[in-house]
Amino acid sequence: MIFLRMHGLSFLSSRVIRTYKIASFCWAVSLLAQNPKTDPVERGETQFAQTCAFCHGSGANGGAEGPNLIRSALVRHDNNGDLIGPVIRDGRPAKGMPAIPLSDTQIADVVGYLHWRLAESDRTSPGNPRDYGLKLLLTGNAQAGKAFFNGRGQCSRCHSPSGDLAGIANKYAPADLQARFLYPENVLKIATVTTRSGRHFKGMLAYQDQFTIALRDEDGWYHSWSVDEVRFEIHNPLAAHLDLLHRYRNSDIHDVFAYLETLK
Ligand code: HEC
Ligand code: HEC
Repeated sequence: MIFLRMHGLSFLSSRVIRTYKIASFCWAVSLLAQNPKTDPVERGETQFAQTCAFCHGSGANGGAEGPNLIRSALVRHDNNGDLIGPVIRDGRPAKGMPAIPLSDTQIADVVGYLHWRLAESDRTSPGNPRDYGLKLLLTGNAQAGKAFFNGRGQCSRCHSPSGDLAGIANKYAPADLQARFLYPENVLKIATVTTRSGRHFKGMLAYQDQFTIALRDEDGWYHSWSVDEVRFEIHNPLAAHLDLLHRYRNSDIHDVFAYLETLK
């Protein structure tokens, strides 16, 4: 077991070294070309070619070692690097994506370039993202997805096909449904506050900083306190949903999409 792990690591690092050899080669070529790039998108393009294209393909269209990033739900749902940044910084070493030591500016450039590529690809072939969603769904098995939903996937702990997810397939285009499932948006956190006198309040977290906490209770009333006057807990309803995602296999995700797509 330990041997296998070490073997995996050295395999990974040989890949990384290979990447950087190629990267520095590209870098040397780009120096020779003497084409100073000032526009951040162009800088990002150069950076991408040097550090990422080896695995993700030129133009981020996918390569032998890394997935297509233009069709990634994560890239599509990124805001200013909030999702892409951590993947670059921390990598996903167990899955073949090394942590890449870039500066904040370099990361911002690469992120800018990826967003530009995405917009460019939507513009030149607007049907793509949707088609891709459909293609993914077609590879899954709805029956297996249903079993997964109610069983191993534990989705039924929080969702119901006749309740909150009823008609979900009509609500979103396939690519959106996929993205919503992988990265749900705008989910409010729940706060419970206990005052010194022992009164309890519970509601949607309305505001929080170093000094203040505020919530809106069920009746719509806004309450705020100084943080050192109360005890409080904040609950993120999405934490469990997100935690589960790391445990799914790709085929499970395809099956569960196929199943969600039957909820019309
Ligand atoms: C050594 C190969 C390699 C290099 C170099 C590499 N990646 Fe990756 N990357 C991968 C692999 C493999 C995955 C898929 C990991 C997984 O399955 O979770 C991935 C995943 C990603 C993802 C997540 C996609 C998704 O939909 O979940 C992003 C974003 C990403 N890479 C961006 C980059 C950027 C930007 C660079 C350059 C700064 C880069 N990668 C360099 C191999 C690489
Ligand atoms: C521990 C609770 C929990 C579990 C388990 C869970 N989710 Fe979620 N899920 C949530 C919460 C909370 C949200 C965000 C609120 C919302 O949009 O309904 C969410 C959002 C979603 C959405 C987006 C709904 C929309 O209208 O945008 C989909 C689709 C979804 N989950 C599917 C699944 C599937 C499929 C599974 C199982 C593989 C699963 N969830 C497991 C809590 C959970």
